[in-house]
Amino acid sequence: MTVYLDHAATTPIRPDVLDAYTRALQVVGNPSSVHKFGQDARNSLEAARDSLAASVGANRSEIIFTSGGTESDNLAIKGLFWQRNAEEPSRKVIITAGTEHHGVLDPVYWLVDHQGAELALIPVNSQGEFDLDWLDDFLAKRGSEVALISLMWANNETGVIADIGRITELAKRQGIPVHSDAVAAFGHTPVDFARSGLAAMSISAHKVGGPVGSGALVVGRSVKLTSLVHGGGQERSMRSGTMDAAGAHAFALAADLAIRELASETARLNLLREQLVDGVLKISPDAIFSRGEAAGLAGTAHFTFAGCSADSMIFLLDAAGISVSAGSACTAGVNRPSHVLLAMGRTEDEATGALRITLGYTTTADEVKLFLEAFPAVYAAAKKAGLPSK
Ligand SMILES: Cc1ncc(COP(=O)(O)O)c(C=O)c1O
Repeated sequence: MTVYLDHAATTPIRPDVLDAYTRALQVVGNPSSVHKFGQDARNSLEAARDSLAASVGANRSEIIFTSGGTESDNLAIKGLFWQRNAEEPSRKVIITAGTEHHGVLDPVYWLVDHQGAELALIPVNSQGEFDLDWLDDFLAKRGSEVALISLMWANNETGVIADIGRITELAKRQGIPVHSDAVAAFGHTPVDFARSGLAAMSISAHKVGGPVGSGALVVGRSVKLTSLVHGGGQERSMRSGTMDAAGAHAFALAADLAIRELASETARLNLLREQLVDGVLKISPDAIFSRGEAAGLAGTAHFTFAGCSADSMIFLLDAAGISVSAGSACTAGVNRPSHVLLAMGRTEDEATGALRITLGYTTTADEVKLFLEAFPAVYAAAKKAGLPSK
């Protein structure tokens, strides 16, 4: 039997979505064509836009379909920075956090290296929470120099949830646009774009049971941003290229199903995660449940085990048929301590022994039990392997 506990990396496509997606892929027609085929594809795309807008609490015109979270993050960060800079060249500062996904950090670093941006990192405490007093202070002193703020709604490694409402409230006083990477949050905790006060928000289909390669940037109606790609002027001229009607259809359906189940799934996964956390802490009393008492996603259990190699634990669990990860799948495979944990003040040793176990809609109580049965031997072996040689 195999047990998949890596839903934060990607969650299995929902059977109903797979069925609808494969049928939609067979529909011929470019949504921009004027003939019947084109109009049928356009109708399907626009129905998906309506449905996704309802799921995310946005207006239909605010949904810009993209290829996923990474593209949405790039479009928001570069697009807002370029737009802001063209209007007010003195605004060079980008505020973000060291715990962000690379989809956010890397475009910010690129703007710093190539486009004269200045980086200001918000301090993060040991539980992964942003220091909003620092933000308040920084904006009071240097708000007129800030081009944009990008802070994630929920962290994809620790599951910690940010107070987005407070962040946008602080930024609003200075007229600063705020982007949030809500890829880990959307479908897993309530997300309402209209109420959030955000200028832009990234979401991705494969984190909610939709296909990989489909996502959206939600962009406020009055928000202007410079496009990354130029061409046919689709998607409010923010994202040229033939629209992926089938992908949008599948994404909207997956999002709708995830939102409908959100309350019941949150309650169910909270119980399973608590069992898992209690079980792991009994087996390994020295382990640290990374987000401590901070608010977090129901399905995310992230630990650090000092003196253990995460790679050994992942390998041994995999041999037992159980799939978990050390952190973000985008940096997995590279033997480096998690930048998220280092930004939270963990030592390299602690960050090297990090395990992310993420539950999702397919997870059962039996799977959590199987993990807890396999874990004592895995932990003992990893601890032994991690002991310094005398
Ligand atoms: C928080 C976060 N942002 C962005 C991404 C990238 O999304 P995508 O895989 O759709 O490009 C991920 C995926 O792991 C993520 O977890």
